[in-house]
Amino acid sequence: MRDDFKEILFTEEEILSKVKEMAEKISSDYKGKDLVVVGVLKGSVVFTSDLIKYITIPCVLDFMAVSSYGASTESSGIVKIIKDLDYDIEGKDLLIVEDIVDTGTTLKYLLKYLKARKANSVAIASLLTKPARRKSAVEIKYLGFNVPDEFIVGYGIDYAEKYRNTPYIGILKEEIYK
Ligand code: IMP
Ligand code: MG
Repeated sequence: MRDDFKEILFTEEEILSKVKEMAEKISSDYKGKDLVVVGVLKGSVVFTSDLIKYITIPCVLDFMAVSSYGASTESSGIVKIIKDLDYDIEGKDLLIVEDIVDTGTTLKYLLKYLKARKANSVAIASLLTKPARRKSAVEIKYLGFNVPDEFIVGYGIDYAEKYRNTPYIGILKEEIYK
């Protein structure tokens, strides 16, 4: 699988140390609050699992699934809820956990959808952001790393469902998806 990568951007060690740093900030900011961590399936599963291990305050874990690229590398711009939350979020402090914010379309929609359900607060933690591609402005309260406008895979992030299981993150060779 390593041969399919054009470049490794972040090693396993670099990712974990960033994730710990993010979890520390979250733990102190949400002290005394009713924290619900909402992982966005499936891309953020690996990140969400690591993140919650280092959150030192009580929290509840839930997941949502939304439609994204399918097998293509271009976002459709249409967001569809495939799996909704299991719990009532009224009065809770939600932290949406994303793998990568690209155009911002998915999060803009999710934020609007979740705020309408009377959560006390809704914030975003994203491991990666691709600022060059942003179409909808979204505030990322906890951010891991900036990435260039390339196709990124690894550590949960896929191309056609593959590469989720690599512990590092990198740029996929163009010949794989073109
Ligand atoms: P957005 O709605 O355009 O911000 O797209 C967000 C979603 O698209 C992310 O949660 C990913 O699932 C997917 N995505 C965006 N960029 C990439 C990439 O470089 N590689 C793999 N998936 C990506
Ligand atoms: Mg995603």
